[in-house]
Amino acid sequence: MNPPNPKVRWGVLGYARIARESLIPALLRSTNSEFCAIASRDPGKLLECRGRFGEVRGYRGYAELIKDPDIEAVYIPLPNSMHREWAVRAAEQGKHVLCEKPLGLNAGECQTMIAACESNRVNLMEAFMYRYTHRTRQVLDVLRSGVLGEVKFVGSTFRFLLSNPASIKLKPELGGGSLYDVGCYPVNFTGLVADAVAGARPGETRPSSVAAGFVREGGVDVSFSGVLTYSSGLIASLNSGFNAHPFVHSEIIGTQGVLEVSDTFFGNAGVLTVVAGDKRTEIPVVESDRYRAEVEDFADAVRGRRPPLFGLAETVRNAETIDRLLAAG
Ligand SMILES: NC(=O)c1ccc[n+]([C@@H]2O[C@H](COP(=O)([O-])OP(=O)(O)OC[C@H]3O[C@@H](n4cnc5c(N)ncnc54)[C@H](OP(=O)(O)O)[C@@H]3O)[C@@H](O)[C@H]2O)c1
Repeated sequence: MNPPNPKVRWGVLGYARIARESLIPALLRSTNSEFCAIASRDPGKLLECRGRFGEVRGYRGYAELIKDPDIEAVYIPLPNSMHREWAVRAAEQGKHVLCEKPLGLNAGECQTMIAACESNRVNLMEAFMYRYTHRTRQVLDVLRSGVLGEVKFVGSTFRFLLSNPASIKLKPELGGGSLYDVGCYPVNFTGLVADAVAGARPGETRPSSVAAGFVREGGVDVSFSGVLTYSSGLIASLNSGFNAHPFVHSEIIGTQGVLEVSDTFFGNAGVLTVVAGDKRTEIPVVESDRYRAEVEDFADAVRGRRPPLFGLAETVRNAETIDRLLAAG
């Protein structure tokens, strides 16, 4: 009998909020991964991290961590403008790369990162955690069931009220703005639905035309609305923002019914609602440990020498769509 695969040994580049609140705890809960090293510019954060999560290796610079020969995979939760550089540098050191969304600031950056990971034979994935939820699987099941008839419209919104004026989300030089930060989710969701209803391969279906409006403050968009039109007759309305009350919701409307998806991008329990004529049907959604599922899939991919479940064709399509939306506004 072969011995079981040892756990994948992870390092984290930057003691970011998403790393300390979500990803590092998910690594600790996972069955196939081990949190082994943290890199931070700030020695105080290294101390805090090790106090909270245990005696992992601490590096004062990201370049030092990626040279550690014991580290197999890195998680990159740096500001969006730094994803490309550090993903490429990590790949060149032979590290597998799980990188936060949006993978790059544009499709060209994404292609550079993909080429670097391919030539160094390491996995790369954009960390779209909502793709690992029961809610997303239920949405796809409803679409495949045909209960909505021919799908004509997708609406999808991710908004919240940003209270921290020092946030990287408000800094243009760090890749801030609501479309990059949360609008990338409705873009991704719309692509997922468009592929599903067309019976296309992931990442294949592209809009034939794109329109966009932005409210900009301090060099970043704080509110965005866009329209994607497809040659099939499908039309999508996308919204993001961090200047108004939180609202995370999508609806998919077909000739025979409507699917309402509250909390589209979250892992909480809830319901999907299908409305068809006078009939409302609630489909239960169970809570998902989405960050753990994401890291376990990625680690299985590293060990299994297969691509992770959320693929790069969709990442490239997402980045191209964001490029077109930014150019249209
Ligand atoms: N998947 C999700 O659910 C989710 C949720 C939120 C954010 N995100 C993504 O995760 C990434 C980080 O977001 P966050 O909200 O966690 O950000 P954050 O708390 O501001 O963390 C960013 C980290 O980047 C490092 N950094 C390096 N240069 C920096 C600079 N010039 N200014 C600021 N920080 C710098 C810092 O780490 P050190 O000081 O330790 O070196 C900092 O802790 C973004 O790409 C974002 O889109 C994903």
